[in-house]
Amino acid sequence: MKFELMSLPYEENALVPYISAETVSYHYAKHHAGYVKKLNTLIEGSEFFGKSLEFIIKNSKDGIFNNAAQVFNHDFYWHGLSAESTAPSAKLSSMIERDFGCMEEFKKLFLDKATALFGSGWVWLVLNQDKKLSIEALANADNPLKYEKIALLTCDVWEHAYYIDYRNARADYLQNYWKLINWKFVSDNLAEAEVNTTNA
Ligand SMILES: [Fe+2]
Repeated sequence: MKFELMSLPYEENALVPYISAETVSYHYAKHHAGYVKKLNTLIEGSEFFGKSLEFIIKNSKDGIFNNAAQVFNHDFYWHGLSAESTAPSAKLSSMIERDFGCMEEFKKLFLDKATALFGSGWVWLVLNQDKKLSIEALANADNPLKYEKIALLTCDVWEHAYYIDYRNARADYLQNYWKLINWKFVSDNLAEAEVNTTNA
């Protein structure tokens, strides 16, 4: 069984003016698609063929890990964006206030970490085993699943995510990324994580 490139949940121009159709086209149809294709090539005939993406991320390393994680990370990134106006659930809001003080402070911490992450990587909002939220800046393809953390939201800070629109101005991309966050997706991830950890 081969992995398939997910369908984008919106048109390539849906995120204009904050992320252009050209950026989405390159990012999704070239970079993201490239990771899917490479992963399929690498797992062919290996112990990971037929395994879930999560299993591969938790148990592989090097090229297979990098490409599997990049597939997961990009799936998560696209689902985490929306041109429609959304709001955090009451539960998510209260946990953000408990763990970061307020939404504005959370935004500042998240964007500061994303700005400061050296080189390529991803910034995540995660739910930890102790049920607390934290912000994790992870390099390259690295992924919170490896650390037993549950992903709620991610931001891609690889240059391919913003260079066409913003050149080297990562901080400007991040300010506009924030306007596109699909808070329903984040809230749903939290609700699902709470159900799963309660039943575990
Ligand atoms: Fe990317």
